[in-house]
Amino acid sequence: MTANTRRTWISWAALAALGATLAQPGWAQDSTFKVGLILPMTGQQASTGRQVEAAARLYIAQHGDTVAGKKIELIVKDDTGLPDVSRRLAQELVIKDKVGVLAGFGLTPLALAVAPVATQSKTPLLVMAAATSSITEASPYVLRTSFTLPQAAVVIADWAPKNGIKKVVSLVSDYGPGVDAEKFFSEQFKKNGGEVVESLRVPLRNPDFAPFLQKVRDAKPDALFVFVPSGAGAAIMKQFVERGMDKAGIKLIGTGDLTDDDQLNDMGDGALGVVTAHHYSAYHPSDLNRQFVEAFKKANNNLRPNFMAVGGYDGMHAIYEALKASKGEGSDALLKGFKGLSFESPRGTVTIDPETRDVVHDVYLRKVERKDGQLYNVEFDVVKAVKDPGKAPK
Ligand code: PHB
Repeated sequence: MTANTRRTWISWAALAALGATLAQPGWAQDSTFKVGLILPMTGQQASTGRQVEAAARLYIAQHGDTVAGKKIELIVKDDTGLPDVSRRLAQELVIKDKVGVLAGFGLTPLALAVAPVATQSKTPLLVMAAATSSITEASPYVLRTSFTLPQAAVVIADWAPKNGIKKVVSLVSDYGPGVDAEKFFSEQFKKNGGEVVESLRVPLRNPDFAPFLQKVRDAKPDALFVFVPSGAGAAIMKQFVERGMDKAGIKLIGTGDLTDDDQLNDMGDGALGVVTAHHYSAYHPSDLNRQFVEAFKKANNNLRPNFMAVGGYDGMHAIYEALKASKGEGSDALLKGFKGLSFESPRGTVTIDPETRDVVHDVYLRKVERKDGQLYNVEFDVVKAVKDPGKAPK
């Protein structure tokens, strides 16, 4: 057998096994409900894996591991950030482990690679991290507790022109969420009378921001709008300050991925005053959030939870509630249990839109400030119950 025919044979075998899984769902056979958590635990997106896993474990520790008569078992797999690995792991989790839900997904291409496995095996796929608008349309079994880029991009595009920012250069990572951020920011900003003089896209893997920042300097905009994925914000912030862009009068704005709580406190004073829009700040002033942040730090060597952690924490909550609603049944009954869920989260009220299966939540405007000796995203305004603008009626 050549490598190619072997691969084809394996994927046919996998599909056949998925069919068998359908006929005899694993979840019905025993009193355990398995959650397959597929995350990048190593590689460039490892901070996302660490945050989501820690949050899922915290939720289970706080709420017990028995739901609707089933014992919850978390199976964590490292996809190293590669879509082929995510898909293979998902097939194994469905066929061998008979998981009742596939969850996690630290990057858009990883979630998209697994969507066909969810459809084929009728297994709900809960996106806890990735944020391109279209992911929920890749399979009727996809649900989301993270966020979408258009939700945040539109809110900052409404704020900027009212606050003296008329001319902007945008800079985004060149893949799904970056393209969403660029499109929804610039459309809304232009609608509000603003001008986007240049739209720059940087590679996702190991970007060198220097030549792009030089272009920004030459264009002399009022502000630079940035989207880079969680974990990449510190690098661009450092170069922005080193090149004296802030001193040259160019403001930095973006979606909250830029001032990620996982890195923010180490970004230094250059981050002070940066305004972003996002659904979660570790500084969100609610009792529920204060308790969450304290418990998370205690369980994780003082690590501050970021917006990925809240996606994982709320995702586990959604799994518990959906499983209660389905009385412990999986597949289509469980999928139904997710739709329309609404609950209080450390971020505020979260709803899973029953039509789009996407998350609806409040989006906050925040400014980086020093509080109690640490850098935080301090919220100063809010837009309530924001649906994904990427799914506005066509
Ligand atoms: C994504 O790949 O969908 C993604 C990852 C990290 C972010 C936002 C979006 O911060």
